[in-house]
Amino acid sequence: MSTPLDPQRIVALGALSAIGKATLRLYAEEGARIVIAGRGEERLHALAEDLRARGAKQVVPWQVDLSDCPDSRTEFGRMAASIGGLDGVLLFYGTLGDNAKAEKDVTEARRIIQTNFTSAAEWCLTAADIIESQAHGSLVVIGSVAGDRGRQSNYIYGAAKGGLALLMQGLAHRLAECGGRAVIVKPGFVDTPMTASITKGGPLWAKPEAVARIIKRAATKSGPVVYAPGFWRWIMLAIRAVPAPVFHKTKL
Ligand SMILES: NC(=O)c1ccc[n+]([C@@H]2O[C@H](COP(=O)([O-])OP(=O)(O)OC[C@H]3O[C@@H](n4cnc5c(N)ncnc54)[C@H](OP(=O)(O)O)[C@@H]3O)[C@@H](O)[C@H]2O)c1
Repeated sequence: MSTPLDPQRIVALGALSAIGKATLRLYAEEGARIVIAGRGEERLHALAEDLRARGAKQVVPWQVDLSDCPDSRTEFGRMAASIGGLDGVLLFYGTLGDNAKAEKDVTEARRIIQTNFTSAAEWCLTAADIIESQAHGSLVVIGSVAGDRGRQSNYIYGAAKGGLALLMQGLAHRLAECGGRAVIVKPGFVDTPMTASITKGGPLWAKPEAVARIIKRAATKSGPVVYAPGFWRWIMLAIRAVPAPVFHKTKL
């Protein structure tokens, strides 16, 4: 286990996401050791350079398709070993997918669910075993407010994120006994490539840097469910409370 004076050892799954990069910059500034896992060697190497320049003590680029890893347990163990152990796991990756297409095309539906839930659940269960066995560490996963209530425009993505939220609540319950942490951070609208096709602007939109600060804080404080920004807790409370006959008249 690292002491407070040692740099943190972080495995970041989906490090190339805009929210991931913004979060990892905060860890780099504190001199962390980081595995950056994602697709695309060139992009991983560019991010590694950026994080080293910001102060990261060690950055290990890890080229992997995170939703199609045949032996995620072994792979995860190798990632952690490459930085001398594990203090934190951050899971960023995800895909919005095409809901309308997925309604008719099971391959697209499977891709959305495999990426956002099934594969993510595998990594989380593996990470939780390590955290439990060493009685130390945190697992922070990016969910979505879309997982709080099914809406006609994105309920397949929402279902996957909602499933992930339940898994994380269960893991938080399980890890509480050993002092480990499991937290799901649920962003609202964030200005990233994932939302490139949506018109942006207004008070509901956040920048990745603002969400990053909430994610970093979630690794040590609050949870197991954190909204980013926090006002989404109250928006989603209200949205969940709308009776179905009223909700079904909307086109959300
Ligand atoms: N932006 C929002 O408004 C918003 C709101 C709520 C929740 N979220 C969640 O926030 C997280 C980060 O997304 P973002 O907004 O930062 O968008 P982003 O920049 O588009 O990031 C998504 C990342 O996931 C990666 N990814 C997807 N499938 C992968 C796979 N199989 N293996 C490896 N990497 C994979 C993508 O890699 P490639 O570039 O290789 O495709 C991309 O780097 C996601 O989980 C998303 O669901 C976002």
